[in-house]
Amino acid sequence: MLPNVMGVTYGAVFASPSMRSGLSPDHLPGRPKDDNSVRRCKQCRRDSGGSVSEVRSHLKSLERCNRAMTDPGRPRAFSMAGREWDLLDEVFPPVYSPSTGIALEFLGLAGPQAHRRPASLLEVGCGAGVIAVQAALAGGAVVAVDINEEAVENTRLNARRHGVADRVTAVHSDLFAAVGHGMRFDRIFWSSNYVLAPADYSYRSVRERAYVDPGYRTHRRYLTEAAQYVTEGGSVFLHFCDRGDLAGLEAIAEECGRRLRVVRSRTVPEGSDLVEHMLLEVLPVPSEADRRASGRCTGERIVVRDGRRAGHRVRAEAVAEARRSARV
Ligand SMILES: C[S@@+](CC[C@H](N)C(=O)[O-])C[C@H]1O[C@@H](n2cnc3c(N)ncnc32)[C@H](O)[C@@H]1O
Repeated sequence: MLPNVMGVTYGAVFASPSMRSGLSPDHLPGRPKDDNSVRRCKQCRRDSGGSVSEVRSHLKSLERCNRAMTDPGRPRAFSMAGREWDLLDEVFPPVYSPSTGIALEFLGLAGPQAHRRPASLLEVGCGAGVIAVQAALAGGAVVAVDINEEAVENTRLNARRHGVADRVTAVHSDLFAAVGHGMRFDRIFWSSNYVLAPADYSYRSVRERAYVDPGYRTHRRYLTEAAQYVTEGGSVFLHFCDRGDLAGLEAIAEECGRRLRVVRSRTVPEGSDLVEHMLLEVLPVPSEADRRASGRCTGERIVVRDGRRAGHRVRAEAVAEARRSARV
C-alpha cells in the first residue's frame, strides 16, 4: 500500500518545539563570529552542550534530511493528488513533509482533475516532479530544473508515467544556468530549501541542497535572476515557510531591488510545531514615480493571507535592523 500524503500530520518522528524568533545574523554571509556567536544564535539556540531544538535550526533540518533519505520505510513510490508517483533514492521525498502538497494547493494543482492552466511554467527544484507533472496535466508547458541529477531523472520518469513527457522538459541546472536566455515563462516557481544554514556551511551531499541554503546565497540569486525569465505580466513565486528567516529574506530582497508579497499562507502541524507555509510573489521595488502614481507610501507591505488582503506598514526600525543584519 502506498503512503497517502494528503490530510495527515507530518513530522511526528521529527518533532521539535515551536519557536518564533527574530533574525539570525550569525547565519548570513559576512557576519563576524565571536566566541558567543553560537550561544547568541537565535535560530539554533545551541547551548554549550551542543543541543539544538528549534524550529528554524539548520542542524534539525539536516537531521530531517538524513532520516528522510535513510529511513528503511522510505517508499519507492507514493500517492499524492490522486495519482501514484515514483521516488528515486536521492530525491526530496514528498512523504515526510507537507510542503509538496501545500505547494500544489498554492498553485491550484492539488486535485486529480486540476484546473486547466495552459500557462507555461518554469519549476526550479522539481524534485520527484509532482508539481511539474500536475502543471503539465493541467495543460501547461513545463520546464523543470534541479541541481540534483537524480531529481531530473525522477521528473522524467513521472512525466512518462503520466503521459506528459512531451510537455515536461526536465533539465539538470543550477537555478537558471541551463535555461536559455531568450526563454520566458508565465510562471516561475521554486519550493525552496528555506532553512538558513551558516554562510560557511559546506554541503556533504546533493540531498542536503533540498533542505538548507547556506547564507541564503541561492535565494539571493533566485530573487535577482528570475525576473529575466518571466513574461511581461507573468509572476515569480517562492514557496517559503517560517522554518526559514523571512525577515532576512526580505532584507536580501530589498538589496536586490525586489519586494515580497505574501499571496497565500497555510499553517499546518508538523510534529509538535505549527509551521506557516507561504506563497511569496517576488516583485520589483516600484520606482518613486510609480509609488507617487499609486499613492502608496514607502515601507508599506501588502499582505494577502488566504485570499484576504490587508495592508500594514513595516516599522522603520525593523526594516533598518533587517538591512543591518543581512548586509554582506
Ligand atoms: C524542498 S525541495 C522541493 C522539491 C519538489 N519541488 C517538491 O515540492 O517535492 C527543493 C528542491 O530544490 C532543489 N535545489 C536546491 N538548490 C538548487 C539549485 N541551486 N538549482 C536547482 N535546484 C535546486 C533541490 O535539489 C530540491 O529538489
